[in-house]
Amino acid sequence: MKVLGIDIGGTGVKGAPVDSRTGELLAPRFRVATPQPATPEALAKTVAQVTAHFNWKGPVGCGVPGVVRHGKLFTAAHLAPECIGADIRSAFEQESGCTFTVVNDGDAAGLAEMRLGAGKGRKGVVFMCTLGTGIGTALFVDGVLVPNTELGHIEVRGKDAELRAAESARIRKGLSWKKWAARVDEYLIHIQAYLWPELIVVGGGVSQKHEKFLPLLTVDTEVAPAQMRNEAGIVGAALAAAEAGRK
Ligand code: BGC
Repeated sequence: MKVLGIDIGGTGVKGAPVDSRTGELLAPRFRVATPQPATPEALAKTVAQVTAHFNWKGPVGCGVPGVVRHGKLFTAAHLAPECIGADIRSAFEQESGCTFTVVNDGDAAGLAEMRLGAGKGRKGVVFMCTLGTGIGTALFVDGVLVPNTELGHIEVRGKDAELRAAESARIRKGLSWKKWAARVDEYLIHIQAYLWPELIVVGGGVSQKHEKFLPLLTVDTEVAPAQMRNEAGIVGAALAAAEAGRK
């Protein structure tokens, strides 16, 4: 099945058509800057730019940085506050004329890794986190997703974990790889204590440089870098739409 995958991030909105069987991108990805402020209306216009670029008429899967149920956003840490409570699926469908499945961006990236990447074929509890502007998380039990876990916001040293351990914190505070790795380690040790996963997959753009920080981690659980790297969000959003279509 061919599905257009779109990943809405804090800085960019990226999309590409995906073969949902193989996860292969069927055309080079197209990127537009995330509108500021990222209101539902502005996001719908940006998303429609992406569908128009590919002259897309088929199904679309879209990952968003917030809790989303039945097309409606319940949180919006990196989007305009007007997004909370908004039916963004309807807004995107009206603006673009396509049919949308909207999921949390961490869940989308996790789905891509579970089906086609570092978690493929893994049973038991698998935890995935994406270290980017924030920390996105996805939790799987025997390959089945528990949607909308917001475990990037657990408290570590009295602070929201993503403010300490996301990739943006490393850049904002000018932390060395060693110092930042210690923060990621502390975060994952908390996750381990709560969930006891059998595998932790670490994703986000920074996972392309995993050799700089994963070897410094001390957490007992097996940790693997994401394999889909930057494309996990797009591919996973497409997979989510394909899997939703089969239900
Ligand atoms: C949001 C999550 C999102 C993550 C990554 C967090 O701040 O609460 O919903 O998945 O950032 O974008």
